[in-house]
Amino acid sequence: MNRIRVLPDLLISQIAAGEVVERPASVLKELLENALDAGARAIQVTLDQGGLKRVQVDDDGGGLAREDLPLALARHATSKIQSLDDLQGVATMGFRGEALASIAAVARVSLTSRAENAPHAWSIRAEGTGGGAAEPAARAPGTTVLVEELYFNTPARKKFMRSEQTEFGHCDEMFRRVALARPDVAFGLKHNGRVSSHVRAQPLGERAGALLGREFLDASFQVEAQAGTLRLSGLAGTPQAAHAGKVRRADSQYLFVNGRFVRDRMLSHAVREAYRDVLHGERQPAYLLFLEIDPRGVDVNVHPAKIEVRFRDSGSIHQFVMHALKRALSPTAAEAPVAYATVSASGSGPAIQQGFQLAQPAQAYQSFMAAAALPAALPASQVAPPLGYALAQLHGVYILAQNEAGLVLIDMHAAHERIVYEKLKGNLDAGRVERQQLLVPAAFRADALELAAAEENQEALERLGLELNAAGPNELAVRSAPMLLAGGDVVGLTRSVLKEIREYGAVQALAARRDELLAGMACHAAVRANRLLTVTEMNALLREMEATERAGSCNHGRPTWYQLSMADLDRLFMRGQ
Ligand SMILES: Nc1ncnc2c1ncn2[C@@H]1O[C@H](COP(=O)(O)OP(=O)(O)OP(=O)(O)O)[C@@H](O)[C@H]1O
Ligand SMILES: [Mg+2]
Repeated sequence: MNRIRVLPDLLISQIAAGEVVERPASVLKELLENALDAGARAIQVTLDQGGLKRVQVDDDGGGLAREDLPLALARHATSKIQSLDDLQGVATMGFRGEALASIAAVARVSLTSRAENAPHAWSIRAEGTGGGAAEPAARAPGTTVLVEELYFNTPARKKFMRSEQTEFGHCDEMFRRVALARPDVAFGLKHNGRVSSHVRAQPLGERAGALLGREFLDASFQVEAQAGTLRLSGLAGTPQAAHAGKVRRADSQYLFVNGRFVRDRMLSHAVREAYRDVLHGERQPAYLLFLEIDPRGVDVNVHPAKIEVRFRDSGSIHQFVMHALKRALSPTAAEAPVAYATVSASGSGPAIQQGFQLAQPAQAYQSFMAAAALPAALPASQVAPPLGYALAQLHGVYILAQNEAGLVLIDMHAAHERIVYEKLKGNLDAGRVERQQLLVPAAFRADALELAAAEENQEALERLGLELNAAGPNELAVRSAPMLLAGGDVVGLTRSVLKEIREYGAVQALAARRDELLAGMACHAAVRANRLLTVTEMNALLREMEATERAGSCNHGRPTWYQLSMADLDRLFMRGQ
């Protein structure tokens, strides 16, 4: 048995390096994290031969003072923590003061840095043992760390390195992780002299699109939840996308805890649980999630590469993440069908935000109309009406109808409004708006301006089908109203006409502003939401829509109806997939 001896410093560092510096990608990770800790806004990475020959990181962060340069390369020297208390609440990526020393033990390192107020930069080199003397250098404020010839002095280690391409792949993935965690910082990556990636400071969505592909962005939804000091945010892939195998990168599963990429069984379990009801079998969801937690609730000092963490209260974090994600996964009824149908139909556009597309119903409508026009010679009974027949009314707002293609959803107020508006226009163009005498005049309190407008513009009002007179000193009464509108909010529509006339003058109101005026009237006349319609009334509305121009959208440009074809529905329920 040999006697016990204290190991030389270099060997100690080389042993430590075995833990920290597994491959070029781990060097890159440490350098990137140092740059972020230094407050960099822009970081440039330069690699040669997959990082085996060179890993260089340039940043525009706070830099190092000349006296600190040798310390940066020394073991157990850090500017980031000073006490156990600091360690327990560490908010920086680094804290051990070990990374650069470990790297310098197994590679040739040069460190060039200029502190913010320094007149110029200083540079030191180290190869294996200790640093040389600092020399003046030229550089803008910030730091450049150059790591060359990794494992030049530990050949056994070097043998474990894979091909240049494999090592570059690991570096690229490391770069992606760090850049995804910090969309507020600009990043560039060059390999063998060629630009491989470049992203400016941007919102998370853009960063995700740039680094994970548009497919990921298009097939994911936002997650945002908070409970006490816990916050979960980011993007989670739709189950549909996972189902369709749309996610390009099979391993697009990114989870960050306080900005640190981690692999954590408890957290991935929570995510899997959240998806359980909507994702079956082996399918994997894609996600880019950020968990923020009081640094005191998580121990980051449990793994040499800091890729694992330990939570103080892992039970409640599991619950929080699972429930937050579950909630985000079950969109409200209003959003779900359209979003799902649209996602699977076109595969583009953010899943949930995407609403009805205006052009779609209009186009579909035209083709329906064309189709309906063709078999005009056939007996009426054989021609199915384009919008089909009403099935039911939904929550007093929508009409559900069945046509040849599948299900039609109609916003009854919007549709009716368009019909009334088009008819009013036709009436006015024909020079006569059919009037209807009201059985009981509709009286309302009017101010002096309204009274004056009513008196001065009797003729114009009558052309619009309105007959008004004073019913008292502060009161106007509507005696007759346009036939089309008599069943609606007569007082409201009269007021809106009086307002229009008062503001623009009768001539203007009836000419240049005619469409606005009529649209205002139509709006007051149209069936309000929550009015129950009989099936007969609903079918009558559908037939009127078919006979009305521009019935595909209401006066405000919203669509009036939407077709969900049988194919859309099949996709929604994943039939035949
Ligand atoms: N890019 C940089 N800009 C400014 N200072 C830096 C930079 N890189 C390193 N330093 C300084 O050098 C010190 C040592 O860096 P090193 O990475 O070895 O340790 P650390 O980041 O403190 O902890 P860890 O070992 O956990 O990474 C840092 O504490 C920091 O003060
Ligand atoms: Mg560090």
